[in-house]
Amino acid sequence: MRNKLLPILFILSISFLLFCPATYLKAQEVSFYKDIAVIIQTHCAPCHNKDGLAPFSLLTYEEVASRSNFIGYVTKTRYMPPFKADISFQHYKNENTLSADEIQLIQTWINTGAEKGQKKKRKGEDIPTDIHQKNAPEPINVNDYDLSIGMQKKFQMNSPGKEEFRFFYAPVNNEGSKMIKSIQFVPGNKKLVHHSRIMTDTTGSIAGIDGMSESDTGVYQYQTKPLADNFLFGWVPGNDRIVFPEGTGKKLFQGSNFIFNVHYSPSPIISSDSSFIRIKYTDKPVDREVITLTLKEDNISNLPFIIKANQVSTFYMRSAMLTQDVSLISIMPHMHLLGKKFKSFAVTPSGDVLQLINVPDWDFNWQMTYTFQKYLYLPKGSVIYAEAQYDNTINNERNPSKQPKDVGYGWGTNDEMMNLVIYYVTYKPGDENKIL
Ligand code: HEC
Repeated sequence: MRNKLLPILFILSISFLLFCPATYLKAQEVSFYKDIAVIIQTHCAPCHNKDGLAPFSLLTYEEVASRSNFIGYVTKTRYMPPFKADISFQHYKNENTLSADEIQLIQTWINTGAEKGQKKKRKGEDIPTDIHQKNAPEPINVNDYDLSIGMQKKFQMNSPGKEEFRFFYAPVNNEGSKMIKSIQFVPGNKKLVHHSRIMTDTTGSIAGIDGMSESDTGVYQYQTKPLADNFLFGWVPGNDRIVFPEGTGKKLFQGSNFIFNVHYSPSPIISSDSSFIRIKYTDKPVDREVITLTLKEDNISNLPFIIKANQVSTFYMRSAMLTQDVSLISIMPHMHLLGKKFKSFAVTPSGDVLQLINVPDWDFNWQMTYTFQKYLYLPKGSVIYAEAQYDNTINNERNPSKQPKDVGYGWGTNDEMMNLVIYYVTYKPGDENKIL
């Protein structure tokens, strides 16, 4: 046996010696069409395309090569693609990150002269003159919605160079409650709208907030009123809608009115925006209603929720014990500018720990709803925990106060929040195998 193996080993080592340098050399010949196009196509093109969610498109060799150094920088620093959750902690349906190898490949490509290479045909596919947006949401049938509701009037942005946080009130006052299948936010001016959050009010008493800026003093009287849904949907570029799983729907309460909280990027010119949302109701009765479980400031165990000036503070919160078996759909942490880290996990009655989300480097501008890959089963009696770290020192470059002051709860961007918004349905056997 041993004798038979030796020649084989010998041949193997020889071929290794012969082919290794060739393979090594080949790896050095990194070209756009051979190696880079597919990375850009998968990870960047869903936002960097002609529709302009991102400021420029990355679809052709010319578009990518002309910005190659910049692209090398934003990928190496992991600023792009903007996905903040740690995927070694939990995986998500909508995850989009580059592997260390892909980042290195981009670096090698740039350092070896950003070669174009040969266009390669794959089963009739011509990459990448017309890069397909592989991970992009399915094309939207623009007529496939039941309710389209927008800002009552155009917002005029008159101060170039200044960012704005505005509230808009969009009354619907629907008769009877409805079941929502999907919610889509459509930014009117894609160059201006940075992100937005949709809330609902059923009291009608917040109507006066329409058009107000977060810095208007009058806004505070509204921000203390409880909302029917304080997080119906949070939109950031690339996260344009939420579709609830088959057989489920989210209730739109009777007499709902929408509040849009829109963050506008500074614009070099005077411009305007008129954004709206599109809602599709479920077409058949659903067997399960999507429920929102929101952990908020009153779930914090180390109150008061005051982030002292010049301090880094951590707050801990926990949910009540779950009173039934549930299947989690998605999770969304929420903090403002002082936020630094956010982590959440659940502990089952038998002591198992389920990792839900870890955002090690919180970025206010890139908050999103993270949908699990499959329903995540949590048995009755489980408790959900979260911890969040805030940096209220001058080392936090996003600190809105150059001279830090104590900061407490409020919706306003310069106040703070600690929220964890989870969508779930009651558990049905087999859920844990259902792909979302
Ligand atoms: C989820 C949508 C999205 C994805 C995916 C995405 N980008 Fe972006 N990108 C944006 C938006 C929006 C901006 C402008 C706002 C900003 O810079 O924060 C931007 C800005 C940039 C910039 C300019 C940065 C600056 O400081 O001005 C570069 C370069 C860039 N992206 C490259 C990439 C590359 C390369 C990829 C893929 C590896 C990628 N992006 C993936 C949305 C996206």
